[in-house]
Amino acid sequence: MHGIEFFKHNIEHSDIERVNEVLRSIFLTTGEKVREFEEKFSTYLGSRYTIGVTSCTAALHLSLIAAGTGPGDEVITTPMSFCATANSILHAGARPVFVDVEEDTGNINAELIEKVITEKTKAIIPVHLYGQMCDMKRIKEIADRYNLKVIEDAAHAIEAERDEIKPGQLSFSACFSFYATKNITSGEGGAITTNDKEIAELLRMLRLHGIDKSAIDRYTKRYQHYDMPVLGWKYNMDNIQAALLIGQLERIDELWKRRDNLWRLYEDELEGIKGIKLPKTVPNSRHARHLFTVLVPSGKRDEILWRLQEAGIGVAVNYRPIHLMSFYRKTFGYKEGDFPVAEDIGSRTISLPLYPLLKEEGLKIVCTTLKRIMEEI
Ligand SMILES: Cc1ncc(COP(=O)(O)O)c(C=O)c1O
Repeated sequence: MHGIEFFKHNIEHSDIERVNEVLRSIFLTTGEKVREFEEKFSTYLGSRYTIGVTSCTAALHLSLIAAGTGPGDEVITTPMSFCATANSILHAGARPVFVDVEEDTGNINAELIEKVITEKTKAIIPVHLYGQMCDMKRIKEIADRYNLKVIEDAAHAIEAERDEIKPGQLSFSACFSFYATKNITSGEGGAITTNDKEIAELLRMLRLHGIDKSAIDRYTKRYQHYDMPVLGWKYNMDNIQAALLIGQLERIDELWKRRDNLWRLYEDELEGIKGIKLPKTVPNSRHARHLFTVLVPSGKRDEILWRLQEAGIGVAVNYRPIHLMSFYRKTFGYKEGDFPVAEDIGSRTISLPLYPLLKEEGLKIVCTTLKRIMEEI
């Protein structure tokens, strides 16, 4: 047994100290630390506003609400994602409409989007799968022609760039996750970036019940009455989460560099192994290097997965497509064959360990073990 974890976080002593500082202070909920994180996140992404929330699911939900999406509307997205993406559309009361993905990247196939646009379509949610950005220029051009909003699921893609475009630069909003295994993490957490002041103000209210004053406004100034102009949710990020994220955000490019080196090492070590297809990085882009996934022969994936785990190597499957989850089958009548490219990836993909603390020797063990298994099966 090798004992190579699928993921390890990068929380350092200085991060713990920053959290302790919050714990020793009087103010634990949304306050100064959240504001500091939001400012730094906006600077990193080159966006005007950041709204810290409790998850990327919440970020997607609130973005859809702020975009005016509701019952009777349709939102186009990809089946090759975590179910949170499509679930957020249902949370907003709308209907998810899937289109198939590109074979090489697993990202939504922009060529297929126009075919499913109807009178009811309100928005498109592209997902930057594994950290590789979708073709945002093309998607934005289609969206503009049909007057649709683009909301990016950038849960994997904080550090990504494509054709000089970063997440949030061409869209209504971009949504990020700080879930336990993400590139920077607060256990649970999320953020929305947008360049529109009015939308940012609306999102700030929507993350806290729809009220127009946060606890920090009421705490730092004299007591002020608040109004509730709209109905919102309870999705506000707190100071403890923000304190954990600030230091990781300061180190984000260092952490990315380390994963990028490991990624290249994986490419070298796994090149040419029969039956293994390596991930591709599109030209003129910076891949956020969130998940390193290989495709193995159909029908053999689960056995390979079990054998890797038996050897003590942590693995994951990102993802079996959303439309084949039993809720989506039952509710919308989806079935096998509806989105063949997503289904093919879903039946062949394996995610291998990728995180800054992964040692090169560990990575080499993963590769030799996989190679041995491929020879045996
Ligand atoms: C592509 C994608 N979208 C959305 C989410 C949801 O993020 P969260 O867990 O922060 O709600 C995830 C989380 O794993 C994800 O991978």
